Amino acid sequence: MRISEHPILGIPEQKKEVEFTYDGKIIKGLEGEPVAAALKAAGIIIHRYTSRHHSPRGIFCAIGRCTDCVMVVDGMPNVRTCVTPLAAGMDVRTQYGVSVKSMDAGAQYEVSVKNLDDRAQHEVSGNMETTNEIAEKGR
Ligand code: FES
Repeated sequence: MRISEHPILGIPEQKKEVEFTYDGKIIKGLEGEPVAAALKAAGIIIHRYTSRHHSPRGIFCAIGRCTDCVMVVDGMPNVRTCVTPLAAGMDVRTQYGVSVKSMDAGAQYEVSVKNLDDRAQHEVSGNMETTNEIAEKGR
């Protein structure tokens, strides 16, 4: 859902519709809008899972300050999607710790958590169905 007319800001300028991928699925958004806004318009609210408790996180501050919206964008982890402009062809993936979810079939997942400066690394594996996957099945 998008705002078509705002009482203070008026009618949003027309932007070009572009395609990008979210966890391998093709999604449409508006060029130059925040990646998080394009995901929200597509009904996607989970951006990452914390490494320790696997807790879902999404848009919180929406001004680039809290890191709750970080995702793996074009292979780069920790991208604040609330302040990152959408461009055609972007590869946006849910972030687990600071890594992308294993794209293996089924709900099997493997998480590798690795600091960007290689100070610490640990791996966790198990079965988990993400909140977005549950929402897609209508449960
Ligand atoms: S929502 Fe807080 S940094 Fe993006």
